[in-house]
This record gives sequence, structure tokens and C-alpha cells, in this order.
Amino acid sequence: MELTKAKAAAGGAVVVVLMVAAGLVGHFATPQTTCEEVEQTTTTTDTPTTTQATPTLENYRLPTSLDPLHYVVKLQPHVNGNFSIMGHVEIEMVVLEKTSNITLHMAEITVYDDTIVLKNKADQNDLQIKDHEYDPSREFFIVHLAEELSVNTEVVLSMDFEGYLNDELRGFYRSTYTNENGDQIMLAATQFQPTDARRAFPCLDEPALKANFTVSLAREEHMATLSNMEIEATEPVEGQAGWVWDHYHTTVKMSTYLVAFVVSDFEFLSDLAGETNFSVWARPEAMDQADYSLSVGVDCLTYFESYFNIPYPLPKQDMVALPDFAAGAMENWGLILYRETAMLYSPEESSASNKQRVATVVVHELAHQWFGNLVTPTWWTDLWLNEGFASFMEFIGVDHVEPSWRMMDQFVVDTLHYVFGIDSLESSHPVSIPVGHPDEINEIFDSISYYKGASIIRMMYFFLTEATFKKGLTNYLNNFAYDAAAQDDLWQFLTEAAHEDDTLPSDVSVKDVMDTWTLLTGYPVVKVERNATGTAATVTQDRFLLLPSAPDRSDAAPSWWVPLTMTSQDAPDFTRTRPSAWLTPGTPTLILDGLPSADAWVLLNLQQTGYFRVNYDAGNWELLTKQLADAHEVIHVTNRAQVMDDALNLARAGQLPYETALGLTSYLAKEKEYTPWEAAMSSLSYVEKMFTRTAGYGPLRTYLLDLITPLYDDVGFEDDLNGLHLDQYKRVLALSWACHLGHPQCVAESAQQFGEMMLNGTPVSPNLKSTVYCSAIAGGGEEAWETAWALYLEANVGVEKDRLLSAMGCTKEIWLLSRYLEWAFTEGSGIRRQDARTVFRAVANNDVGRYIAWDFLRNRWGTISGYLGGFTTLGNLISYATAEFNTQEELQQLESFYETNLDSLGTATRAIQQAIESTRNNIGWMDANYQAIVTWLEGVAQGV
Ligand code: BES
Ligand code: ZN
Repeated sequence: MELTKAKAAAGGAVVVVLMVAAGLVGHFATPQTTCEEVEQTTTTTDTPTTTQATPTLENYRLPTSLDPLHYVVKLQPHVNGNFSIMGHVEIEMVVLEKTSNITLHMAEITVYDDTIVLKNKADQNDLQIKDHEYDPSREFFIVHLAEELSVNTEVVLSMDFEGYLNDELRGFYRSTYTNENGDQIMLAATQFQPTDARRAFPCLDEPALKANFTVSLAREEHMATLSNMEIEATEPVEGQAGWVWDHYHTTVKMSTYLVAFVVSDFEFLSDLAGETNFSVWARPEAMDQADYSLSVGVDCLTYFESYFNIPYPLPKQDMVALPDFAAGAMENWGLILYRETAMLYSPEESSASNKQRVATVVVHELAHQWFGNLVTPTWWTDLWLNEGFASFMEFIGVDHVEPSWRMMDQFVVDTLHYVFGIDSLESSHPVSIPVGHPDEINEIFDSISYYKGASIIRMMYFFLTEATFKKGLTNYLNNFAYDAAAQDDLWQFLTEAAHEDDTLPSDVSVKDVMDTWTLLTGYPVVKVERNATGTAATVTQDRFLLLPSAPDRSDAAPSWWVPLTMTSQDAPDFTRTRPSAWLTPGTPTLILDGLPSADAWVLLNLQQTGYFRVNYDAGNWELLTKQLADAHEVIHVTNRAQVMDDALNLARAGQLPYETALGLTSYLAKEKEYTPWEAAMSSLSYVEKMFTRTAGYGPLRTYLLDLITPLYDDVGFEDDLNGLHLDQYKRVLALSWACHLGHPQCVAESAQQFGEMMLNGTPVSPNLKSTVYCSAIAGGGEEAWETAWALYLEANVGVEKDRLLSAMGCTKEIWLLSRYLEWAFTEGSGIRRQDARTVFRAVANNDVGRYIAWDFLRNRWGTISGYLGGFTTLGNLISYATAEFNTQEELQQLESFYETNLDSLGTATRAIQQAIESTRNNIGWMDANYQAIVTWLEGVAQGV
């Protein structure tokens, strides 16, 4: 996933010095003072000796005295020249509180001093400017006025400036690709969220400070520009032959982070979505991969208009696939930008999961057009609401576009189980979290915000019912349209709808319930213990932790509002997803009665709609085991996935004997559905990872091979591109496990298919490519690796490039792995900056590559963080490298790395803390479980 990319402006780091080439300034004025010069005379937070205290969270916020109304932004980026951007901005503002200074955000920009003008809007008179200063730590450009401005005055501040098309994939940046003639083609694009609009033009760069934008972009005649709106007029740039201005229509009221520009030679494909002109853009050679995203986009835009019951407000929507893009995609209003793999789909080369990724990302970004763009979080603390909501709507939207994909079934394995893993650590954090500094803002674009956010919104969708959920949502969106809102505002509108529809008791609000899920860290395990007759049970909750925290807890144990749904063997009905009872913080113990007798199972959390695990007494687990073995279809497929994931993780946390959990998995021999398999295998992969370097690996491998082989035999090595989507997923799951575990036929088949591809160019079928490439390169030495590298350089399809990048990390040749890591972090090696982490992850995932990756990370920390600079979360690299750590030595290495680099960890701080905690967990897990599992495996091997 590409979701945690953005690295922040390091607080206190030196601002890049711009190369101002004389003579290129053209019709703009001559620079007098640059912000760099001002910076030298201004106190900064560079060193501990500064006189200014480190700003607190609030200090990073702009003063509340001014509200921007309208921006005129004119930019001339020299995409094919020296990369300078000549700029002019006019900002119309209204005074909310009397003030004698105007504070803007600005970074890596040089302002031409004598062009700074402030006018009173009403009479167009100049207002006198005393001086101005730049505060680099807060990226503030502060204009001091001679006189105080009184409330309600409207003023216009204008200035000329110069910026720079950087190569850091943030702000206004440049990118290149090689066309089919081998020429290097330049382009420029933007990535502003969360705090980088200020790198393209001076602005009040906070999400709630919405304004209308009138944009003009200058381009050379052979290029095209795009922005949020349609072009109103194009005219020559005076005195500059070959250049024209594209003047855009003024936008609706919107946030700065959603403004976007693209300058390129791309081609496009168009269609109509109702009244909206919908186009997709890509480099000419990739245009044959653009049809699918266009059809998904058109279909989904219309669907969301009816789902939210609010028309899409802009006349057009453009989506662009960029060769260099830090995130996966960005929801700029009317101009959604993607990395190629997230938008382009090639029927010949893309796999089923590549296709699902495209549909998912397109739908996610379209959901933001309402939730995020029309109504925006008042501050980044509520980012989770934006991202969590869009991550939930992915499933609703893709389910509409591709109903046969069973997206609602996929949610639990794809999103819920995944984030459970992260949220079971002590070092997790609440979804709603106060943030100030850009580093902190960037750090919360993480799995908790996205996937826990999505999971608790899904829970709410089920306990409110879809109709109530939609009603509250539409009212909320209409009420705050073109404005900003906080989570409590949404809760209020949903509560009103729920009380109207009677889906929530009148003395309970959505806020009561949801505050427990957004403000507390972690999630509960609900324990169900039935009495001797079985007819009553006590139900309690406790935070689920992989490693129980130290007993001296000073705080009260956290406690949630838990919606309970239940069915039983007497009358199994898994459709009743509205809660029949609630566990509440006030009554942490609940007695459920009216249950069936002790010989019939009960099961809670139907379709796993709730964000919690369930543990039962031994008797009930036994009954469930028997049900699965005898007739597993009686239990809903999603609850089969739930049982696999809950049982194996309860065992991992020491709350259920491993014998019980592993015993449950034996029913899989009869399981034909993808999601329970996926749930089981991803939990078992933990055991496999821990065992990799132990004597017990042999018996474990045999056990896992015995488990997966019937599935492997069932699905076969033959790809079926017309088969059901989840059947294709199931085949990939079986094959990749079989080959990974060294299933002889799987390995031989892979080598043969790769060989045929090398020899006669016979392509491998799309779904099989990843497995075949990895397996063949693992066993194929230098020759196979070089073949893959050549294919990588030639490939015109992004996902094929990605696949090869990952597969090249599968080689067992240590020197190839080392060289590969070097290349990944070297400019011009052929590996794009955006892809360095893919390479790193591939090497770290490899049993022989793991230490190479860890050493590389430790020895080259400075270089790596410098190279990734603008975007990638370094934290990811740490979790990739340390995922399998489970020894004291590894723990010590990690701790000493933490201590040595304390000052330069930046956005990676939490990742290291998580890695340390995970390593401790793993060590504890080995001590507690290794021997017991070995004994169990021996018993299975002997048929006990
Ligand atoms: N708003 C984000 C893009 C973003 C991510 C901006 C990180 C700044 C930092 C966008 O809506 C998004 O969530 N993109 C995802 C893809 C999505 C399908 C999960 C991404 O980039 O990975
Ligand atoms: Zn998003």
C-alpha cells in the first residue's frame, strides 16, 4: 500500500537555496530580498540555542484574524527549462479580528520584495506595509502593517515570487519518462496534501480556510495544462514566443490542499457521467491501459451522486496517471492524480488484484469528492474521518461497479483483520489524535486512520442500518457543503437520523458510542462464558493486546460501547446485523440469557461487523470446531474467516490454547471459499515467520504443505482469467504458498514457465506472474535476475514493473541483493524514487535478504532518509526490516539503533517503538509457544 508516503518538511531543516538564474525573470521584477535571506536574520529552531521556544502544537496554526476569500494564482513553470516557476498571487481576505499583520504559509519560495502590495478592496487604496519576516520553522511569511486593520475590512495582498519544480514529489514537482523513441519527456504535477500547497504559492494553507481560486498556468504550445476547473480562455504570453496562458474558470470554495496542476504532453480519453465531462489522461504509450478506470469512474461518479443524494458540483473530472507519484492517488477536486499502477489496467498484463486495486483507488478518490472536498475536516486531527470514510466507501462503490467481486465479504480479510494486527500493540494510537507540526500531520496518514477508521465506520453503518446511515450523511454533507466540520458534527447528524428512524435508543447518541472507538487506543476482546446448562452467559470486555501490559495499570481499564449480535446452532441466522444488546462502559458485565442448551454453539459478532474479537469457553469452541468439521457452510463465510482470525490471534496472545486454534484450521481441507483461507493463512504466516530460523521449521512446513496441497490440487496451475474473481484470488493464494513452501511441482512449473518466457518470449498468465517470477528468480541465479532486470527496464505497464521489482528481491544471491539495494537508493539507476520502498520490502521479505536490508538501513540511515526526503515514510522500511525479529540480539540492535538515531527519526519514531514492542512480543511468543507447537506438530505427524 502506498498510504504513508509523505515525509514532512523537517522542522528546523535548512530551506533549500534556490538557483535563481538571472535573465529568466522576464516580465517579473528583480528580486531584492528572498525568504532565504530573511531566514538568515530570523530566529529559527535550527539549534537548541535559539531564543524562541519550540512551538507547541497550537503554534503551528495560523492566527485566526483573517479569512481568505479568493485567490488569483498565476504560474509559469519552466518544465523544459531550468525548472523555475515564475509566480504571481493575489489573496483577497476579510478581517475577522483586528490585526496589524498578515500571516501566510510559504516554503521554498522567493518573494520579490518590491512587488508586495496591500490594497483595501473597497477603495483600491494602498495600505502601508512596514516590513515582513519569514519564520522557517513554521513556514510563516508575516507581513507587518503600519496600521491596524479593522474587523470586516476586505483587503487584497499581492506579490510576485519565484518557485522551483523540485524532484521531491511534493508541492509543484517535475517528473520524466522515456517515450517509445527513447526521448526523455518532462512533465510537472502537484501533490499538496497535507501541507505543501505553500511550496507552490504563498497561501493560508489550512484545510478549513476555504476560498475560490482563479488559476492561470503558462505553458509551451506543445504541452497541455490541467487544473481543478475547465479552461475559460487561452492567450499568448506577451513577449514570449511559443508560450500561452491557460486561464481557468474560478473554482468553487475549496481548501488549498485540493488545488492541483498538471503540465504534460499526455493524451486523454473522455466520456460523460451524467452532466460531467469525465476524462482520463496518461502518457501516449500507456493510453491503451486507460479504459477501465474511465468506465469505473463514470459508473461510480453517477452512483455516488445518487448514494449521497448530492450532484457532483464541478463541470468536469480529470484523472491523470503519473509516472512519478508519492502516494497511490490524490483526490484533488476535479483533478485526481494517480501513480500509474493505481489507475492503469492492462487486460493482458494486469492480474485480478491489480484490477481490484484500480477500481478501489478510483472509487476511494471519488468518495472524497463529497466526503473531504465538499465537506472538509476543520483540522487534520479529523483526517481519520476523511480517510476512514473513503476507505469504507471503496467497498460500497466497488460492490456497485463489480457486484461479482463480493467486496463486502472481502472487507474483513482485507481491512479489518489487517488493522487488528496493528491495533493489538500497546504502541498503537487512537484514530483521533491532536497534531500540529507537518511531521505529525504526515505521520497520521497511517493504517490506523485508514483501516481502523474504515472498520469503525462499517460497524456504525451496520448498527444504524444503511438507510439511516445514508440519511444522516446526506444531511451532514448538505449542511456543511463548501465548509469544514469535525467528527462531532457528523455524529450529531447521524444521531438525529437514528432517533428519527429509531435505530438507536433515544437516550444514546452516536457520539456516546463512537467516542469510545475514536478516543481510546486499541479494541476489545469480548469474552462469552456460558453456564453449565448453556442457557445463560456472562459477557465481558477487555482490551485485546498481543502481549498483556504490565499489571500496575494506573488508568482504569478501557471500555467500549460494543454492539452485540448473536446466533446459535438452534436457528442459525447470520443476517441479523443489528445489535440485540450493547456492552457499555457503565455495565462492563452483561448477562445474556435465553441461549440454547449446552450442546448447541453460540456465535457472536455476525458477519464480523463489530470491531472486536470474541473468545468463548472451551465447550463452545469445541462445538464450533465440530460444526466446522461436519458442515462448515452452516456458518456464514465471513464468520468462518472471523473464527480463523480470532482463534489464531487469541492463541498468539495466550488467551486460547494453540491446540484449539490449530485444531479449528483442520476443517480447511473442505473449505472452498477464499476469505476463510486468506484469514487462516495470513494468521498462520506469523507462526511460519517465527519458525523460519528454527529446528521446528521442517515439521511446520510439512504441516502447512499438507494443509495447502489439497487446495493447490483443486485450483491447479492453470490460470482462468474468465473465472470468478475470488476463485482467481484463491488460486494465487494456493500457488504462492505452495511455491513459497517449496512444493516441488509448483517450483518446477514456475521454473519452466519462466524459462519459456526467457527463451521464446511466451508471457506468463497475469495472475501467475508474481509467483512464477519470484520462484524462478529465487532458484535462477544471476541469469534469471538479469533477464528480469532487462524486462523491468523495457516494461510499459506499471504493474509489470512493480512485479518484477518485487521478484528481483527473491534471489538468493547475496551480492545481487546488496547491489539491488544500492541501486534502489541511487538517482538515475533506473529505479524511481517512488519505488525504492518496494525494492527494500522485497529484499527484507527474503530470508537471506533480511539481514542485508537491516544492515543497509542501519549503516545508511542518513543517506536513505535524505534520498527519500519529500515523501516516503521511513517507518515502513523499519517495519519491513524487523518484521521477523524474535531474538534478544535483534532486540538489542533495534534498541541501540533507536538510541543512536533519536534525533533523526522524524516520522519514523512510532515505527521504531512499534518494532521494539513487536520484537519483545515475538521473543515472549517464542518462549511461550515454540515448544508446545513443535509437540503438537509431532503429534499430527504421528497421526495422534
Ligand atoms: N488523500 C490521500 C492521498 C495522500 C496520502 C495524501 C498520504 C497525503 C499523504 C488519498 O485519498 C489516499 O488515501 N490515497 C491512498 C490510496 C487509497 C485507495 C487508500 C494512497 O495514496 O495510498
Ligand atoms: Zn483518501
